[in-house]
Amino acid sequence: MCGIIACVGSDDAADTVLTGLENLEYRGYDSAGVAIQNGTDLVVRKRAGKISELTGGFVRDLPEGVSGIGHTRWSTHGPPTDENAHPHTSASGAVAVVHNGIISNYEALRSELETAGYAFESDTDTEVIPHLVEQYLTQGLDSDEAFRRAIDRLEGSYAIAMMIEGENVVRAARQGSPLVVGLHDDAYYLASDVPAFLEFTDEVIYLEDGDIVTAESGSISITNLAGDPISREVDVVDWDPEETGKGEYDHYMLKEIESQPESLSNTIRGRIDPDEPAVRLEGFPAGCFEDVSEVHFVACGTSYHASLYGARLLDEANVRVRTSRASEFTGRVPDPEGTLVVAVTQSGETADTLGALRAAWSAGADTLAVTNVVGSTMAREADDVLYIRAGPEIGVAATKTFSSQVVTLALLAERLTEDIDGAIRRDDLGSYLRHLSVLPDQIEEVIRTSRAEALSTKYEDRNAYFFIGHALQHPVALEGALKFKEITYEHAEGFASGELKHGPLALVTPGTPVFALFDGKHDEKTHTNAKEAQARGAEIIAITASERTAEFADDVLVIPDTHPDLSGLLANIQLQFVSYYTARRLGRPIDKPRNLAKSVTVE
Ligand code: M6R
Repeated sequence: MCGIIACVGSDDAADTVLTGLENLEYRGYDSAGVAIQNGTDLVVRKRAGKISELTGGFVRDLPEGVSGIGHTRWSTHGPPTDENAHPHTSASGAVAVVHNGIISNYEALRSELETAGYAFESDTDTEVIPHLVEQYLTQGLDSDEAFRRAIDRLEGSYAIAMMIEGENVVRAARQGSPLVVGLHDDAYYLASDVPAFLEFTDEVIYLEDGDIVTAESGSISITNLAGDPISREVDVVDWDPEETGKGEYDHYMLKEIESQPESLSNTIRGRIDPDEPAVRLEGFPAGCFEDVSEVHFVACGTSYHASLYGARLLDEANVRVRTSRASEFTGRVPDPEGTLVVAVTQSGETADTLGALRAAWSAGADTLAVTNVVGSTMAREADDVLYIRAGPEIGVAATKTFSSQVVTLALLAERLTEDIDGAIRRDDLGSYLRHLSVLPDQIEEVIRTSRAEALSTKYEDRNAYFFIGHALQHPVALEGALKFKEITYEHAEGFASGELKHGPLALVTPGTPVFALFDGKHDEKTHTNAKEAQARGAEIIAITASERTAEFADDVLVIPDTHPDLSGLLANIQLQFVSYYTARRLGRPIDKPRNLAKSVTVE
């Protein structure tokens, strides 16, 4: 969803804000804008289109400035036009605001302001904010009071940064949308996400809902709405700024696919001991899950697929488990005492998942967030948090975080199984963990040897693409199809192998590519159903470690031999490559697919 950035006290605010916007573009890219304060004037530039269209000449005459705000938008209210781009300004142009979130009472506020004579230039909910502030300034309130009074009128979710002409001060507020502060000497940064300012500082403060920030060069204060001071800890983030750059890669997605040997090593590090054999998760000592009798995953998109993987492992271990798409979660938890609700979320900010987490918590369940982002809203709101340690992911299509989520959930499944009464522990734990420990090397091998690029050339012109798998390969098939449709814009669907004949087979025509995933343990079902599709003219691309399975296939993507419960992770790398290279051949904007955003902070 939208990204906001603000800075004060840096040498060249315009440059800092534009850099921050480029770093944040994965949060939204249908329009962008900046407002720069040069001591006396507030200069605003904004337009529909990508950040590059803003930076490419359009902002050449910006003053360097000492403070500034910027915004990259993913539309919710009104189409992506120059008028709807942020910053939004008051009638006099003296107040400029950037906002991420949704002001749910904006219609009432807008009609009140229109009645009072304020003319609106955009269709956005945000525009009520600068008008409200200006109204209170006109009534004689000082800047601080006017901002607070305006914030007090807002309902919904927001991260807001505001500047007033003639003041080198950035004011900000957070309610329900992410906002972090960066600190470096006399300079301060405010942004939706840490990567926005990571090249300037690694010292951050994670703001909480209700926080109001007033920042000027050399001084910052955090208060509540009433003005009472609030003390927040300064954290140091351990993400390397290099990690958030594209390096020599054409796309973040390719970089992130190929960084999986490293990200997965980080996920596993210090958590498994194949010799003992044991799984240790920091913060979750032996016995801590003894009261759990049911696990309920809530998640969206790719994270939902990772949850299905974790749920299947628990189900096979005889643990009561459910998985809900967070947007469909009813909030009902029949046995709150014994239920652990696990919110799986890369960003830790997805509104649907956050809503489900809060509903589960209100129903009395214990909540656990499995996330990648330290300090994210869900990391802070859940009773407990388990990090997947994948490092920053910028491409809108989730790749390395899916692998790290699956492995983290696999480790969590082992810990739960150890503690939960009646759960059946796997009898091959040592061998399983040994295979897990070499998985990063095997991923490296897939990266080195994959034929996916050549295959994408062969199949690039088909009408539809199907992905099938059974048991743990089913969520991987779903994920393969999601990735494919998301970045190629081609029709793709994932199915449980056995379901093909219950309807989807009618869609198979000569030449339809069917990617069939084999794990070496549950291959018969997938084999039979793939053959049925092949008999109707489908071309089968087997993803397998077995030469025998490969024999019947029209094409093969080979994966190294591993434990059947881990083979989906290797197959998934091949599918990520298939999606990536097909999208590339089709000339799609791979890192920023149309209509999508990395972090969806509206329901
Ligand atoms: O940040 P989250 O994991 O909560 O995001 C959930 C989905 O929006 C996300 O997984 C989405 O499906 C992926 N970006 C798709 O590649």
